[in-house]
Amino acid sequence: MSHDATIPTVDLADLRSSDPEAKRRASEAILEGFGRYGLVYVRTHGVSDAGQLYDRFLDFCARPDAEKQPYNRGDLWYQRGWTPPNTEKAVVASGQPDFKECWFAAPIPIDPSTVDEFPEIACANVWPEGDAGFAEEYTKIGAELHEAGLALLRGAALALGLDEHALVKGCEGAPHVFRLLRYLPLTQQQIDDKVLWGEEHTDFNLLTLLPGGRFHAPDGSVSKAPDDRSGLYLRTRPTPEHPEGRMLRGSAPPGCIVAQVGQQLEILSGGAFLATPHVITAPGVPGWSRVSGAHFVHLHSREVLSPLPPFRTPEALRAYSPPVLAGTYGIKTLVDIELAPPSAIDKLGYRHYDRLASLRAQPA
Ligand SMILES: [Fe+2]
Repeated sequence: MSHDATIPTVDLADLRSSDPEAKRRASEAILEGFGRYGLVYVRTHGVSDAGQLYDRFLDFCARPDAEKQPYNRGDLWYQRGWTPPNTEKAVVASGQPDFKECWFAAPIPIDPSTVDEFPEIACANVWPEGDAGFAEEYTKIGAELHEAGLALLRGAALALGLDEHALVKGCEGAPHVFRLLRYLPLTQQQIDDKVLWGEEHTDFNLLTLLPGGRFHAPDGSVSKAPDDRSGLYLRTRPTPEHPEGRMLRGSAPPGCIVAQVGQQLEILSGGAFLATPHVITAPGVPGWSRVSGAHFVHLHSREVLSPLPPFRTPEALRAYSPPVLAGTYGIKTLVDIELAPPSAIDKLGYRHYDRLASLRAQPA
C-alpha cells in the first residue's frame, strides 16, 4: 500500500466562484478524482470540527451494554440508533463482520410520503436519553456535510456536461443518513490474523462525505496514529500494469474532508465515475481505537437507478441493468450486508404468492 499525493483536491470556493478559471479548475479536479480514483479531497467545505460530537458519541459507547441495548434497533435494520459491534458485513469480503459500533440518524427531513413504502429506511430518528445536546450537534454537522455534498454534486453534474441540477434534484427528500463509527481496539492475535476494522467494499449511496476522525491510544487519550498503516485505503481502477488496481492511502490534506463516489453515482454516470472500493485498516499495535463519521447522500427512494441519457450506451445499459428504484436497491444492499433480514427481499413483489398459498390452504 502506498500514499498517493495525486488524488485531487476540490475547493468548494472555486465551484461557487464566478471566475471561469476557478470553475474549470474545480471541474477538472472532480473529473480526475471521481473518474480515476472515485474520491476527492474537499477544501473550503464549511463543515465544523466534529470533535465535540465524537466526545458525545464515545460517552454513549462507554455506557453499560444494558443501557445501550434499547437503542439496538435491528427492527429498523440498524438505520437508526446504535449498531452493536460485529453486526455489519461487507459484501465480497471474507465474511468477517466489521470491528465497529455505530450510530445512525438522518440529519435532513425525509419525504414523509416514503414512510409507508420504506418504513425502515425513512423512519424517525432516535436519540440517546441523557444527552440533550447530542441531536443538535449531530444534525448540525450532518447538515453541513450534506451541503458540501450537494455543492460537489452540482459541480459533478457540470463536469459531466449535465445540467447543474441533474444530480441534486433526485436527492430532495431522500433518506440521507449520517453515521458515527467507533472502530474497536484489536488484540495482537487479531492483528496477526490481519483482521480489518472495515472490510473492503463500495458504498451503495450517491456520494459519501467523510469529515475525518481521530485515533485513541490504549489509555483512551486522543493521539496521532501509532503507524502509517492504519486508516482509509482505496483501490484504483485496474490498468494493464496493475490488473487488480492499486491500494492507495486516502489521507486528506490538513483542513480537508474526503468525498467518495457511491454505487448510485457510478450507475447514473454509466461508469464515468467510479464507486470507490475502500477498506479501513487498524494500526499494527494492539489496543488502539478510532472514532470517525460518514454522511451518506442518497437518491430519493423512488428515483430510478439507470444511466442518465448521455451515458445510456448499450455497454452501460448492459452493465447497469435491470433498472431498479433507489429504495429497492437500498433494501437489497442492506440484506447483502446483513443489516436487514433476508425476508425483506421476499416482500419485493412476491406477496401475491403468499396470498395464493393462504387461499389454497383454506378448508374447502
Ligand atoms: Fe464505506
